[in-house]
Amino acid sequence: MNLKISNICCIGAGYVGGPTMAVVAKNCPNLTIEVVDLSKKKINDWNNIDISKIPVFEPGLAEIIKEVRGKNLFFSDKIQESIEKADIIFISVNTPTKQKGVGAGKASDLKYIENCARTVARYSKGHTIVVEKSTIPVRTAEVIKKILESNNAIDNEDKKTFSILSNPEFLAEGSAINDLQNPDRILIGGEENEAKETLAKIYSQWVEPNKIIFTNLWSSELSKLTANAFLAQRISSINSISAVCEITGANIDEVAKAVGTDNRIGNKFLKTGPGFGGSCFKKDLLNLIYLCEHFGLEKVAEYWESVLKINDWQKERIRKLMVEKLFGSITNKKIAVLGFSFKANTNDTRESPSIEIVRSLLEEGANIYINDPKVSEKKITQDLYFEFIKEVDDLNKYFINEGSNYWTYSKDLEIVFKNCDAILILTEWEEYKKIDWGKTYKLMRKPAWVFDTRGVINQEDISKTNFNTWIVGKSILEN
Ligand code: UDX
Ligand code: ADP
Repeated sequence: MNLKISNICCIGAGYVGGPTMAVVAKNCPNLTIEVVDLSKKKINDWNNIDISKIPVFEPGLAEIIKEVRGKNLFFSDKIQESIEKADIIFISVNTPTKQKGVGAGKASDLKYIENCARTVARYSKGHTIVVEKSTIPVRTAEVIKKILESNNAIDNEDKKTFSILSNPEFLAEGSAINDLQNPDRILIGGEENEAKETLAKIYSQWVEPNKIIFTNLWSSELSKLTANAFLAQRISSINSISAVCEITGANIDEVAKAVGTDNRIGNKFLKTGPGFGGSCFKKDLLNLIYLCEHFGLEKVAEYWESVLKINDWQKERIRKLMVEKLFGSITNKKIAVLGFSFKANTNDTRESPSIEIVRSLLEEGANIYINDPKVSEKKITQDLYFEFIKEVDDLNKYFINEGSNYWTYSKDLEIVFKNCDAILILTEWEEYKKIDWGKTYKLMRKPAWVFDTRGVINQEDISKTNFNTWIVGKSILEN
């Protein structure tokens, strides 16, 4: 087995592949890394000379790309050539939840992983280490292994061999570069020690050895699902308590602080909000639930399902509360929605709570104005109306302007606030913390409401106005 590594290929130039490989390239100048993707557009975007146009927005990413792109990091659509050269191949493709067939709505659709494995089986040469990076259900490595080995048997002029490793990504969007540069741990699962050590050698260029954990394949795959399930569970727990705070007069920030100072609990992931979003939590919970159901662990499946139920309930209760406070109807009322990404510092909207909340407000007949510093109007249109349509050519064609059921996008907060009845804060962007509430109050129709699902408004400033306020996990203030 030749374990000398010089060429890396990463299949999938998305949120995981792009930033991960940028950090590997920065820390391993002796390795040549190619990130390949089926989407020529995505590759062109990564190669854009205007660095602000790269497809993923992450603090610190553009600087690293500037430093390593064209030196030892390359973005290419020449998948075959890249696989042929590679000693290690990272699989970083998307694994969406299945929409049809067995396991629909729960199991992950592995068709992209499967296609990848077939392409690797076809073009790889000699010995190749294949690393699963994508979020995947437990025992996906077995699928990859079977495809690689069975195709090898048919077309085997030069003997190809493979080692399969699981090396899940724990990066969180918005802090991806820091998470990659200073990880809590690097998890490497596999059956062959030599391959595991080869991968560990790459990470050891910048990660302390005691942070590199070796496990078997299945423990590694299950650990990723479990970590995300635990994190999601914490958010559902604190969100459930936010509702209890609102009726008892307790304050969620004080409760979170008091609870989080217990060393055994810890103070992270205790921020209440409109419910968790992002590409991983829901998908991984669904994968775990599907796995449990498949193996007859009904009670375990129900337990994890309740985490998702609370997440949906939190969004639903926010919508109901708004309608109730705005005199039982929001038809034709102007509502300013601040934030569309699933959290601050990212342009990603996958599973963003904003999607469902805005959809439900539109259904109630509200006139919605949406502002987000990073999410484009086109992306919001796709999310609100066309989940499964990739390209929307003529935006105007799709705006629903009939009656009162429509929405408008604006970068200008003054336009968004002008004559509106209520402001709904859904993402904790820095700019929303600095809003001048005195000035804003004057622009609005009265009585004026702020619904803050992230607890970001400057309370001292707003208390000097006549705003009615609802802040998640705190008492309602009505003038
Ligand atoms: C998550 C995991 O953190 C990461 O380890 C994994 O690899 C991918 O999934 P990500 O989805 O990027 O990362 O974001 P994260 O910061 O975990 O936030 C997820 C959601 O939970 C967001 O909607 C966020 O607003 C919400 N959240 C997070 C809270 O509501 N409260 C918190 O205290 C933390
Ligand atoms: P993630 O958050 O997991 O990185 P993304 O959707 O952002 O997911 O990125 C996954 C990328 O993988 C997409 O750009 C998609 O075009 C690419 N992809 C999917 N299947 C293949 C494949 N067989 N070969 C190359 N690229 C692929």
